Amino acid sequence: MLLAREARPFFRNRATMTPTINTTRLLPELRHLATLTDCPPSPDPNTTAVTRILFTPRDLEARAYIASLAEAAGFQTRTDAIGNTFIRFPGLDPTLPAIGTGSHTDAIPHAGMYDGTVGVLGGLEAMRSLKESGFQPRRSIELLVFTSEEPTRFGIGCIGSRLLGGVLSPQIADNLPNLLEPETPGAPFMTASSSWVGSQDTSTTEVRTLRDVRTAAGFTAPLTTVPLPPNYYAAWVELHIEQGPLLERAMQPSTEPSLGAALKGTGFTPSITPPKADGALAPEGTILGIVTNIAAPASYRYEITGLGGHAGALLMPDRRDALTAAAELILSVERHTLAANAASGTSDSVATIGTATIHPGAVNSVPSRVTLMLDIRDTDTTRRNQTMQALRADIQEIQTRRGITITERQINADAPATSDPHIVHTLETICTTNNIPYQKMVSRAYHDTSFIAPIAPVAMIFIPCRNGVSHRPDEYATPEAITLGTRVLALTLAQLANK
Ligand code: GLV
Ligand code: MN
Ligand code: MN
Repeated sequence: MLLAREARPFFRNRATMTPTINTTRLLPELRHLATLTDCPPSPDPNTTAVTRILFTPRDLEARAYIASLAEAAGFQTRTDAIGNTFIRFPGLDPTLPAIGTGSHTDAIPHAGMYDGTVGVLGGLEAMRSLKESGFQPRRSIELLVFTSEEPTRFGIGCIGSRLLGGVLSPQIADNLPNLLEPETPGAPFMTASSSWVGSQDTSTTEVRTLRDVRTAAGFTAPLTTVPLPPNYYAAWVELHIEQGPLLERAMQPSTEPSLGAALKGTGFTPSITPPKADGALAPEGTILGIVTNIAAPASYRYEITGLGGHAGALLMPDRRDALTAAAELILSVERHTLAANAASGTSDSVATIGTATIHPGAVNSVPSRVTLMLDIRDTDTTRRNQTMQALRADIQEIQTRRGITITERQINADAPATSDPHIVHTLETICTTNNIPYQKMVSRAYHDTSFIAPIAPVAMIFIPCRNGVSHRPDEYATPEAITLGTRVLALTLAQLANK
């Protein structure tokens, strides 16, 4: 291994350059970031519950923390009008398109401490390790910390990357309603949650749209300045936890009877490593994921309007209960998604009703209005659209039979993203050369990379996470997996930067 003192420039030293990932620096940084949370301390000392919603004080503290680490490492930082933060390791030829990496630090209510943050702090560590090894990139390497990958505050995810990639109009973005504002339809899902302790947030008065919220947070320039010019990035690679079980399952003994069944229909090739005798998540058995495609997400808001009334006096035959109609809609979503999987012989279709608000929300009052949010994803856009068509047919039938109205509003319907074959090949070669087992795989979660894909060649590196758990306080990735993923990221950035 090259120590910083003995390092020479990478272009003279391509074969032997080994960036030293400083795990004892990286892990405490991850843990510190997790303390910037609006969740009360977890009763379980083994879990860390993180709630960090866009432009709340905790989110701003997290941004300031990352910027302070970047500046301490000697990198230049800048922030755009939506709050995306760019941290740059300048190349020998700064006029060339840069190599990008990055992820997000915002977290949904009661999330874990690794989603997004591994890509941000891992990306920073990759850049620091390259710099400390004496590596001088030809192209600049840039870490991007995206604003609002999570949809919690404005109902749509990846706001920062959508704007950068030209996938969201600045005007529509600025007018997105603030769901933390109590008067905003749909807001109660945040404020009514007993687990949401909130921040001293300015949103209680007149902070109704994204424009208001970002201005209050100090980001005042027009959003028209955010989209990146063509060829800004020559290549883009995001490091992320898998958020699913496939890598970890591939690390278990392949003799386990459930393995084949678990992987059946996932399009996933079982482990390329010899099975470990104890089946444990052992560092030497860590398998990385190289993402070839990111599934296409879409989300919709349903407003179901019936007739309310007294829970005792309104007779059953006279009811037009919005909640029982909503229940039928929810079950219809599940039925059609399962049918899509059965028809395709895959597990690639997923759909979730993740929020529901009931009006007036009293135990002795028949619900007159229900608002639902649907999140539906598929690796195949046509199949996703077919599932939606089947759902809409059911909705027609439910409306007629129950005498209620159901309106649908599309929040987003995105295309799947495909990784660049050359970057995938670079990642595979780096893994093979360094004896690191990997699997090519689909990302079923969406990522900011989906919205950088329209403007740059992209790929992603996944590390396994325990039991595939994510968006939960018990989300966990081993130090070994984090270090390995960061190392592969560093090597990849170095190689791409010198192309
Ligand atoms: C991202 O957080 C997602 O929901 O896929
Ligand atoms: Mn997430
Ligand atoms: Mn994420």
